[in-house]
Amino acid sequence: MTIQKVGVIGCGLMGHGIVQVAAQGGFQVVAVETEQRFLDAGLARIDKSLAKLGEKLVKDGKASAEDAQKNAQQTRARIQGSLERRSLADCDLIIEAIVEDLPTKEKLFAELGGLAKSTAIFASNTSSFPISEMGRASGRPARMVGLHFFNPVQLMKLVEVVRTDATDPAVFAAAKAFGEAVGKKPVACKDTPGFVVNRLLVPYMGQALEMLERGDASAEDIDTAMKYGCGYPMGPIELTDYVGLDTTLFILRGWVKRFPNEPAFKIPAVLERKVKEGKLGRKSGEGFYKWEGDKRL
Ligand code: 3HC
Repeated sequence: MTIQKVGVIGCGLMGHGIVQVAAQGGFQVVAVETEQRFLDAGLARIDKSLAKLGEKLVKDGKASAEDAQKNAQQTRARIQGSLERRSLADCDLIIEAIVEDLPTKEKLFAELGGLAKSTAIFASNTSSFPISEMGRASGRPARMVGLHFFNPVQLMKLVEVVRTDATDPAVFAAAKAFGEAVGKKPVACKDTPGFVVNRLLVPYMGQALEMLERGDASAEDIDTAMKYGCGYPMGPIELTDYVGLDTTLFILRGWVKRFPNEPAFKIPAVLERKVKEGKLGRKSGEGFYKWEGDKRL
């Protein structure tokens, strides 16, 4: 099963990174958005990231400025933006990275089932929804997998490759090989809530927010504790800002609804409050901390 052309639907926080690493891996990529301004924003982010990565190669003596620039241009040339889902018709792999809302994703996969070529592999980058339900909606459950990347996709080395009971083993193997080809370490996981990472990470972030709410420690001290005590690159409160408070809330809401008796799935009141106030973290400039672009103030 050969993958040459990849379609990515959604060019936001996760989607633009997936588009970029796929192009860096040598694949032709179609990035599909619903509006020109979203597409422009995603492509601008990719340009910025490619420039950053190029600068780093030069700084580390791994490439000349000229080679780094040429390399970035070649990567960029493999990316084609589109506002038409029809342009996904000849893609070998189609990865969904749209809003974390199951009915919206199901509707999209139903549409893809009607337009993609019969050999196409369907993948979702969902953080928390069942891959099997999207596979069912597509009408091609054997060709459906999860490909769950981590934020920032350009730097985080993991991809979770999720198989359902219906996934064809050859489809799973091709998806795993794709993960390797884009420079990631793939881990296999069954279609369980949150897969491996989020099942562990999101309840931990929730506990940190409850700790903050109770006044056990300040946000800075909770983050410092986990950075220095456990060697994590970011503490849980900063990470919630980084991932997005809305995304974290969507994940928890979905789980609480589906698994009301699982004690690890709990929504901290402070998370609901902040999202209601429009404080979504890094993406809105304020969450538990204030942000300017990628930098915490
Ligand atoms: N593209 C290219 N380069 C980038 C970049 C990007 N998107 N983002 C950052 N960089 C570069 C920076 O410019 C910097 O370059 P420099 O060394 O030349 O200055 C370098 O990467 C390091 O970045 P920073 O200086 O900002 O800081 P750090 O050393 O702390 O690294 C980090 C940043 C990699 C984000 C690190 O803090 C980290 O690993 N944080 C934890 C992230 C994490 O846990 N992600 C998973 C979240 S869970 C998830 O995604 C699942 C979802 O479903 C919820």
